[in-house]
Amino acid sequence: MTSYQFAVFGNPIEQSKSPQIHSRFAQQFNIAMDYRKILSTAELFENDLQEFFTSKGGNGCNVTAPFKEQAYNKCEILTPTAQKARAVNTVYLDEKKRLCGHNSDGAGLVNDLLNNQQVTLAGSNILILGAGGATRGILEPVIAQQPASIILANRTVEKAEQLSREFSDLYKIHTTSTENPQYPATPDLLINATSASLTANLPVSDRNLVGPATVCYDLAYKQEPTAFLNWAADCGAAKTIDGKGMLAEQAAISFEIWTRHRPATSDVITWLGNN
Ligand code: ATR
Repeated sequence: MTSYQFAVFGNPIEQSKSPQIHSRFAQQFNIAMDYRKILSTAELFENDLQEFFTSKGGNGCNVTAPFKEQAYNKCEILTPTAQKARAVNTVYLDEKKRLCGHNSDGAGLVNDLLNNQQVTLAGSNILILGAGGATRGILEPVIAQQPASIILANRTVEKAEQLSREFSDLYKIHTTSTENPQYPATPDLLINATSASLTANLPVSDRNLVGPATVCYDLAYKQEPTAFLNWAADCGAAKTIDGKGMLAEQAAISFEIWTRHRPATSDVITWLGNN
């Protein structure tokens, strides 16, 4: 039986649950695999990545913070999604043994919303908080769902404007400030893509952004609800959702790229809720 060699690169990496997630996926298909956590550094990352495939027998790897942009730079072949994201979280080799990079974060979010949460994006009004790498990573798959509108709100408005320009070939994205957000109506979907959850800060304080029909999604997740989701629930949001489902769904896409098997995610999402 083939024994796949997978890994995830990051720094720090100890906290990563990817080995457990992928081992649960592999069990669904009786696939033998080894999935390691690899701690790297900015200086060593590109060499470590190359070596994993050329001399360590690697079949596929994930890349997490802070190396997604370096992985993007290193991969010879990029999917259109990775090109737009300018970040890579899934690496594999093609038949010519070239390093190929994809970004499954945005599709992970979209799949979680559509398939696990029954939240439709087509025709909806979406407000995204943040204009950093996480936002860049999700925009192309979100745009592909053909929402009615997307507004980016960021503390530093210029960064939102810059992102809007980068995606202007795909969609007309409006921008505003998180300090004083101007929004025509309460959004159907409010996504927190800032890194504020990591420091338990609130990315925005205007309670008018959350209406009774607004679904609030935090790309981050912790065992307890994030500050943003607690705030959203207090504002009367229709539903609050954390990033567990997105984590499981982006991993499922990577697993399918590497093995051609599409795993079910519900057991993993339940496991993430308890671990
Ligand atoms: P990531 O890769 O996680 O997106 P990043 O590229 O550093 O990280 O972007 C972090 C985002 O979170 C930025 O949009 C940042 O706003 P600025 O561009 O104004 O810095 C946003 N952010 C971080 N902490 C925040 C806070 N406390 N309130 C509001 N926005 C915050």
